[in-house]
Amino acid sequence: MELMDVIRQRRSIRKYKPDPVPQEALDYVLEAARLAPSWANTQCWKFVVVTDPKVKSELAKAGNEWTAHAPVLVAACADPSEPGTKGDQAYYMLDIGIAMEHLILAASERGLGTCWIGWFKEDAAKRALGVPEGIRVVAFTPLGYPNEAPSPKPRKALSEIVCSNRYE
Ligand SMILES: Cc1cc2nc3c(=O)[nH]c(=O)nc-3n(C[C@H](O)[C@H](O)[C@H](O)COP(=O)(O)O)c2cc1C
Repeated sequence: MELMDVIRQRRSIRKYKPDPVPQEALDYVLEAARLAPSWANTQCWKFVVVTDPKVKSELAKAGNEWTAHAPVLVAACADPSEPGTKGDQAYYMLDIGIAMEHLILAASERGLGTCWIGWFKEDAAKRALGVPEGIRVVAFTPLGYPNEAPSPKPRKALSEIVCSNRYE
C-alpha cells in the first residue's frame, strides 16, 4: 500500500474484535517503531507489550478504561535523561511521538487499529507496568482488529496551516 493511502485510511479505533494479533504482525509494527529516528540516535524508548488481562486491566484503569477490551496494549516508555533538550523542549517526547506514529502507521497498513492514548494517570500506569523511577510512560495504544469503521475526522485546510516565508 502507498504511504499516503495508509496515512489517509488510519483512524483512531476505540472498538476491537477479540481476535488475537498474530506474532508476525506484532513484530512488524514493533520493527517500524525500532527504525524511527531520534535525537542523536539515542533511542530512549522501551515498548511494553501487554497481553496479560490483569495487567491490561490495570493499565486501562490508569485512563481510557475501554482500552482493556483490545487484545494488546503497547505502552511507550522513555528514559528522559538520554536525549537532549532545546530550551524547555524535552526531545524524548518528540522521539516517542515519532516512534509511536511509525508503529501506528505500520499497524494501519496491516489492517490493525490503534488509538494514541495520552490521557492517563502516569503513576498508575507505572505501577501497572512495573516501570522504574526516572522512566516516563509517555503514551500507550490499544492494538487489534477494528470492530468499527469511523468516518474521517475533519482537518484544517492547507491554506489555514501553511504560509510562505513569514508566519502569518
Ligand atoms: C497526543 C495525543 C493524545 C491522544 N489522547 C487520546 C486519549 O487519551 N484518548 C482517546 O480516546 N484518544 C486520544 N487521542 C486520539 C485523538 O482524539 C484523535 O487522534 C483525533 O480526534 C483525530 O481522530 P483520528 O485519529 O481518527 O484522525 C490522542 C491523540 C494524540 C495525537
